[in-house]
Amino acid sequence: MEGKRIFDVIVIGGGPGGYVAAIRAAQLGAKTLLIERDQLGGTCVNRGCIPTKAMLADAKLYDHVKHSSVLKAESLRIDMKQLITRKNEVVKRMATGVQFLIRNNGITFSQGKAKFVDRTTIEVEGQNGKEQFEGKSILIATGSVSAEIPNVDVDGKVILTSTEMLEITSIPKELIIIGGGVIGMEFACLFNSLGSKVTVIEMLPEIISTEDGELIRGLTTLLKKKGIQIYTETKVKEAKVKKGRTEVSVVDKEGKEILFKAEKVLMAVGRFPYTEGLGLEKMNVAFDGKFIKVNEKMETNIPGIYAIGDVTGRQMLAHKASAEGIVAAENISGRKTHADYSKIPNCIYTFPEVASIGLTEKQAKEKGLQVRIGRYPFQSNGRALAMGESEGFIKVIADKDLGQVVGVHILGDHATDMIGGPVLAMGLETTVEEMGKTIQAHPTLNEALSEAALDAMKEAIHLPQKK
Ligand code: NAI
Repeated sequence: MEGKRIFDVIVIGGGPGGYVAAIRAAQLGAKTLLIERDQLGGTCVNRGCIPTKAMLADAKLYDHVKHSSVLKAESLRIDMKQLITRKNEVVKRMATGVQFLIRNNGITFSQGKAKFVDRTTIEVEGQNGKEQFEGKSILIATGSVSAEIPNVDVDGKVILTSTEMLEITSIPKELIIIGGGVIGMEFACLFNSLGSKVTVIEMLPEIISTEDGELIRGLTTLLKKKGIQIYTETKVKEAKVKKGRTEVSVVDKEGKEILFKAEKVLMAVGRFPYTEGLGLEKMNVAFDGKFIKVNEKMETNIPGIYAIGDVTGRQMLAHKASAEGIVAAENISGRKTHADYSKIPNCIYTFPEVASIGLTEKQAKEKGLQVRIGRYPFQSNGRALAMGESEGFIKVIADKDLGQVVGVHILGDHATDMIGGPVLAMGLETTVEEMGKTIQAHPTLNEALSEAALDAMKEAIHLPQKK
């Protein structure tokens, strides 16, 4: 087609997978086009990681002041409109940063909805009509959307997904959350702190079920203490909007039917890969269930077409998508790299936070590993006590004979920042001996990490002796 611009790489989707891949491809000298139908930054920047963390930060501050024995605020109240405004400012700043990086790296940007015309041709339908581009390699990074379940009428006003939840300017008196996964539990903490009566309905025996059992039990106990009601092994039969409120009928583990009435419902039952309208069927791109099938180089079954991030499944995490984006861009540019999924950290921004890397105790045992386990409670950490945040603990799992650390699990305030140490340590294949000998600054929460590692050798200094 005449006038069709030709690129080395066309990236479809400007989230943390796509924009990072575009930057890496440009760094390696590829002439790169990035296509995005909405705002640059994708779910992470606009509707996920960043806005929720901004809101959680304000809710946490409010919670602290409310429960402080020292601060006396007679008429403390939260300004929800301002909370949303501040959240929007943070989002805008991040999105502007991504725009700057795209320009700065010489990447061409096209705003509109992309679809395959043939293996190398992508048509973008934007505000100014349609335009076609040619790409030697095409990278699909179109992300995911909230999943829904039958008999739950999501209307975006009373029964909401996380996207609409980010815009509500009044605090619901009662909030029912369907799904006790990552989104469900972060919002449970957010609205519990803001003063809503929160009820979580989870169909599995546990909330955040992919985490280590001890952490799950620890977090569940702490959240129940805060007044969050958690129903596990409970199935939602239906949720209806009635006169501006909602009624949710569930069947609990004893088979008893319960009817909940609430001001709002949040649907948080997972996310679904988004490939609608891309024309992948025509291209015969292979799927593995609902996800695009890729190999460790992020190649699909069609040579020259790659896919990364939520559309490819596994963990739906921004940092996993970015890592895959880098792998794809490097392979496209002739380097030989591959994705390694064994050391991807998980972070859950509950109150207190959860962060983990590597194997859970159950996974280690299922793999047939003989393990030693060390634990250290934040109650015995000076900094945690001084901060008034002594809930939780660190658990280190290591191979019994070699001492190699195979998993670190943290429940506690600032866990999501603390996991950076274990991420680096496990990347360097550290042992509990090395982790235990590391001199952490005093007083810091990180001292609990060294102590947990020492405990795995029954040598913790600040714990009662173990025989
Ligand atoms: P999820 O997969 O973490 O949790 C969904 C939960 O809903 C599961 O526990 C599931 O058993 C439950 N569920 C499914 N159907 C149900 C039903 N009919 N009734 C009751 N419970 C039901 O998905 P979530 O929380 O929606 O998050 C989506 C993705 O976004 C996840 O992959 C998550 O990792 C990612 N995310 C990551 C964050 C982070 O890294 N901090 C923050 C938020 C989301």
